[in-house]
Amino acid sequence: MRIDILTLFPNMFDGFLNESIIKRAIDNKKVQINIINFRDFSTLKHKQVDDTPYGGGAGMVLMCEPIVKAIESVKDDDAIVILTTPQGHNYKQSDCQKLKEYKHLIIVCGHYEGYDERIRNFVDLEISIGDYVLTGGELPAMVITDSVVRLLEGVINHESSEQESFNNHLLDYPTYTKPTDFRGYKVPDVLLNGNHQLIKEYREKEQIKRTEERRPDLFGGKNE
Ligand code: ADE
Repeated sequence: MRIDILTLFPNMFDGFLNESIIKRAIDNKKVQINIINFRDFSTLKHKQVDDTPYGGGAGMVLMCEPIVKAIESVKDDDAIVILTTPQGHNYKQSDCQKLKEYKHLIIVCGHYEGYDERIRNFVDLEISIGDYVLTGGELPAMVITDSVVRLLEGVINHESSEQESFNNHLLDYPTYTKPTDFRGYKVPDVLLNGNHQLIKEYREKEQIKRTEERRPDLFGGKNE
C-alpha cells in the first residue's frame, strides 16, 4: 500500500514514521508513506497557502489551488482521496477494514481555521475521528494511517488483529500476565488451568459481558 499525506506541518510526522510498528512496516516494504507539503504547490509570493475568508470572519482559509495541485500531483486510478474534518463520516473499525483494500490512500489534512469549501469537490471521502475539534488534520491522518497499516498482511500477528475489539461488533476480552496475584488482584483461575476449550468459552463470555456493560450500542453492528 502507498499512503500520501498532504499537510502544512510535515515535521509532525517525524516521530510517527520512525517508531514501532509503523517504522517496521515501512522498513519491511508493507507500506510506503510520503509526506507532502501543500506549500510546495503554492504559486504565490512567500509560498502563501491561505487567505482571508470572503464575507469576513476570523482566521485564514486554506486556498484551493495548492491543495488541489498537491492532490493531482500524486493521484492515480487506484487512489482514494480522504479529507480529515470534524464534519466527516464518523471513523470506525469497519472503515479501517474497507480502506485496507485500497492500493493507494491520499489523506488531505484539514486546517483548524478551515479550507475553501470547493476543495470538497476534489475528495472522495471525508472522515472525522470523533466529535471534538482538533487544531488540524495531522493527528487524524496518523490515526487513519495507523489503524489501516496494522491491518495489512504481515504487519502484526494476524491472530491478534482478528481477536481484537470491534471485530464481530464486540470489545476484546481481558488479558493478564505474571504474577498471578498482584496486590490481591488475582488472575481468573480458568486462565491458569490449561483447558483451552474452557478458556475459549470464558473469553467469549467476557467479550459479550463487556460489550453489554460498556458499549451496548455496538451489539449486532447497530453502530455501523
Ligand atoms: N480536524 C479537526 N478535528 C477533527 C476531527 N475530530 N476529525 C478529523 N479531522 C479533524
